[in-house]
Amino acid sequence: MKKVVISLGGSILIPSLEKNKIQLYVPVLREIASRHQLFIVVGGGGEARRYIDAARRLGIDEGTADEIGILITRLNATMLVAAMGDDAYPRVAESHAEAKKFAEHKKCVIMGGITPGQTTDAVAAVLAERVQADVFINVTSVDGIYSADPKKDKRAVRYDHLTPRQLIGIVGKAQLVAGLNTVLDIIAARVVERSGIPLVVLDGTDPENLRAALLSGTYTGTVVSRKKTQPLPL
Ligand code: UTP
Repeated sequence: MKKVVISLGGSILIPSLEKNKIQLYVPVLREIASRHQLFIVVGGGGEARRYIDAARRLGIDEGTADEIGILITRLNATMLVAAMGDDAYPRVAESHAEAKKFAEHKKCVIMGGITPGQTTDAVAAVLAERVQADVFINVTSVDGIYSADPKKDKRAVRYDHLTPRQLIGIVGKAQLVAGLNTVLDIIAARVVERSGIPLVVLDGTDPENLRAALLSGTYTGTVVSRKKTQPLPL
């Protein structure tokens, strides 16, 4: 049984409450959890952004807006825990230590954010390090890491493979504000560098993509690893 940490972007799972993809994701996550020890870190999605924007309009500081974002990630995580039923540990982990403890029950462990000033990608990167994951998967709305934002720049090229150093060079330019929306934050990138745990960034708009990636190794995405190896399928 391998250990898999998935950072499941809120923009994928819950772009808005109405358009949530929880029902579509549950069978895929259940299948993965039946073969591997699965940890899922859920993002805040559109609802977190709405709250953070409303907080800013009230003149609330960024750190407090982050706390509000964390609450939304935990709310989203609570929805996923409930939807996974008996296949998930019945509580949202509120720290990495708690996530490790919950994993002793051999069920899928789900958590949201924990610390202001970062994103759930960083939470997931540290979790991957702490549980010595075999792979860290970042499920997002683009099919890998590009030289520029592919939604804004037509000339952007996708990388099949990057070293952690190259990743830091790319994501290091982004600004840190609450509700930040880049493929990965700099803290996550630095943790990926120091842990050496292979990272796979892939498009989760269709949950089948995640299933195919894990079970058959067929996917389009970016692998970040020290050596040019292919971490999937497990
Ligand atoms: P995320 O940015 O991680 O969720 O958390 P997301 O936007 O849904 O993820 P992607 O972009 O789809 O991958 C939402 C916000 O909550 C706060 C930050 O303000 C973040 O932008 N947050 C989250 C924290 O401050 N600390 C955390 O540990 C997690």
